[in-house]
Amino acid sequence: MKAVTWQGKRDVRVETVPDPGIQEPTDAVIRITSSGLCGSDLHLYEVLTPFMTPGDILGHEPMGIVEEVGAGVPDLKAGDRVVVPFQIACGSCWMCENSLPTQCETTQVTGEGMGAALFGYTRLYGAVPGAQAEYLRVPQAQFGPIKVPEGPPDDRFVYLSDVLPTAWQAVAYADVPEGGTVAVLGLGPIGDMACRVAQLRGAGTVFGVDLVTERLQRARQRGVETFDLRDFDDEKDLVAAIRDRTAGRGPDAVIDAVGTEAHGSAAARLAQNATALLPRKLSAPFAERFSVDRLAALYTAIDLVRRGGTISLSGVYGGMADPLPLLTLFDKQIQLRMGQANVRRWVDDILPHLTDEDVLGVEDFATHRVPLDEAPHAYEMFQRKQDGAVKVLMKP
Ligand SMILES: NC(=O)c1ccc[n+]([C@@H]2O[C@H](COP(=O)([O-])OP(=O)(O)OC[C@H]3O[C@@H](n4cnc5c(N)ncnc54)[C@H](O)[C@@H]3O)[C@@H](O)[C@H]2O)c1
Ligand SMILES: [Zn+2]
Ligand SMILES: [Zn+2]
Repeated sequence: MKAVTWQGKRDVRVETVPDPGIQEPTDAVIRITSSGLCGSDLHLYEVLTPFMTPGDILGHEPMGIVEEVGAGVPDLKAGDRVVVPFQIACGSCWMCENSLPTQCETTQVTGEGMGAALFGYTRLYGAVPGAQAEYLRVPQAQFGPIKVPEGPPDDRFVYLSDVLPTAWQAVAYADVPEGGTVAVLGLGPIGDMACRVAQLRGAGTVFGVDLVTERLQRARQRGVETFDLRDFDDEKDLVAAIRDRTAGRGPDAVIDAVGTEAHGSAAARLAQNATALLPRKLSAPFAERFSVDRLAALYTAIDLVRRGGTISLSGVYGGMADPLPLLTLFDKQIQLRMGQANVRRWVDDILPHLTDEDVLGVEDFATHRVPLDEAPHAYEMFQRKQDGAVKVLMKP
């Protein structure tokens, strides 16, 4: 089959690789019909290279048609239409029973000290072959795949794999009071969808911050009050402008949908580039332990949120010794909630909104639909935010 493989920093290629097959009774194999390109893939493209191995198959946002199931997957059969969550979880361990499939005790990557395995996401998360491919082996298929009805286009459901539950969890964790205010930093697919979910769930005012014209425009068109980072000399002025709109206090909640790709700190970027040049054995622990992340958005969130408010972090940060202003966090009495989205935890809450009315605007959410062969170009375009690219779906 054809698959999108990682070959090195900013180097992905479409290659022919062996077809996946059933290896365990709890496996399924699906033929992929749509597969998303995510901000999380951009970390692999550049920042997290020390954890990658050339040939790794990328991608974690698939849907498709079941081809084959193992004997331990009673509820799926060939021909079923399914969306596959980005995390692999068993559904029956203590963590899964407590709605934390990201921490699944059956699939935890204990050798690396990490939580549940993820598709296409470095050896830290199990080095599981990913979903930007023609076929995907789905482990733990007795729990993961979400059956969806025939009829509507893939775009209606494909975001159940990641974007929708991530945005939903970001808003749930933000704990915005009814009619309250929330600022969303970053208006990529996750931030954009988080704004929509916040509106749906009763936030009074949603502020959105980014520095890409089309992304700001998309949010504005849906009633988000937007701020263009480029209009401010530094983050302090941005914070002051949003405080002005919230009686001087700051919003009740801030969602960080930026993560480690933040624009803002040139010094940290230098450190990252230096890390990528180190020998592999040295560079992985270095990237993991020391502050090579770009923390600009998180610092803004801490400054911006009102005293006693909540920061909900969905942007992925990777370091282990990032300097955090604990005095400010403590003094402002900030609640901080974060993590990968527990996909199955939110699916039943989201599905009723994926009707013909399309209140969340999923059917025209993608800006680009490309064949697998164009993946190298799609990665570059998405990373550079060219050609109006916000969400790219690959159509194998
Ligand atoms: N928690 C989860 O389960 C989960 C799931 C999916 C994605 N993510 C993470 O969410 C983040 C966003 O993903 P995405 O797909 O929307 O990616 P993206 O890279 O397209 O979005 C990031 C956006 O932030 C903007 N930005 C950069 N610096 C900023 C700053 N200082 N202030 C405000 N905006 C800034 C960028 O212009 C961009 O539009 C990534 O870190 C991704 O890894 C987390
Ligand atoms: Zn994703
Ligand atoms: Zn489990």
